[in-house]
Amino acid sequence: MTTSTVIDVPGAFVASYGTQGARARAWLDGLPKLGGAFLERWELRPDGPARWGMASLALPVRRADGSPAVLKLQEPREETFGAIPGLLAWRGDGIVRLLDHDETTTVQLLERLDAERPLSSVPDEESAVGVLAGLLARLTSVPAPAGLRRLSDIAAAMVADTPGAVPALRDPAERKLVERCASAVAELMGEAGDRLLHWDLHSGNVLAGAREPWLAIDPEPLAGDPGFDLLPGLDDRWAAIAASGDPAGAVLRRFDRLTEAIGADRRRAVGWTLGRVLQNALWDVEDGKDTLEPTQVLIARTLLEHRG
Ligand SMILES: Nc1ncnc2c1ncn2[C@@H]1O[C@H](COP(=O)(O)OP(=O)(O)O)[C@@H](O)[C@H]1O
Ligand SMILES: [Mg+2]
Repeated sequence: MTTSTVIDVPGAFVASYGTQGARARAWLDGLPKLGGAFLERWELRPDGPARWGMASLALPVRRADGSPAVLKLQEPREETFGAIPGLLAWRGDGIVRLLDHDETTTVQLLERLDAERPLSSVPDEESAVGVLAGLLARLTSVPAPAGLRRLSDIAAAMVADTPGAVPALRDPAERKLVERCASAVAELMGEAGDRLLHWDLHSGNVLAGAREPWLAIDPEPLAGDPGFDLLPGLDDRWAAIAASGDPAGAVLRRFDRLTEAIGADRRRAVGWTLGRVLQNALWDVEDGKDTLEPTQVLIARTLLEHRG
């Protein structure tokens, strides 16, 4: 693509993205031109300031017919390649619609939702969890399309990586907890499931919409058991849980509500949630940490003690 059009890439996005290696830097450097190329290719004009999260830049645009949309740019990585097939399979049911896409760059043209009104801004925690539960049930009822990365493979890799990672943790009780998570995953490995999972359904990834009150955005899809999709709903809005005076009780109420909504078998829901705790623990160790996140420890211990 040769083009002279560029987009404005906010410095704050570049700063928050960090310098995670040469590939990330190259992607960031190419971003103004990459965005510009898609403005030309899809006949879009910028329509307001860009937004961003940890991993993507989302530019409000207007299409040639004047309709609002969002140009989403994210670095092509193993986790992000599933977004396009996933969004195509969901067909906008409970989630943002994909209006156009490019497989090579994973650039997406999305239906515009109300970025000013994420579900995380709804003051009432109970109703926010209810919305998450409803969306989770709908999204995870869809069979995964062929070609997505699979929970069975992810689980096998996590179990294989555990013995090498555990010694990095300082607290013997945390080491034991991670080992328990790994054995729970090992037990479930033969029944890893085939549903389409969102993987990151927390209340910051749900926006108010016009055709439905709430729609999910930002999936990192994989094929697997819906139980693997519960954790972002469990540690969501943690301030409310911490302020409840009984965090374990609050976690259990949420767990029961989400599990019931997706009609999950409790054993699998517990086991795969421990799998998410394991995934986070392995990433923490990879990042050089020697302790686990207290929130993760509390969730894992509470489920093992009361729902195991
Ligand atoms: N379809 C959309 N409509 C309106 N705003 C959006 C849309 N998609 C993303 N955004 C805005 O961009 C931000 C980052 O997008 P997101 O897909 O969540 O990427 P990240 O992986 O960086 O969290 C969102 O939090 C939201 O403010
Ligand atoms: Mg997001």
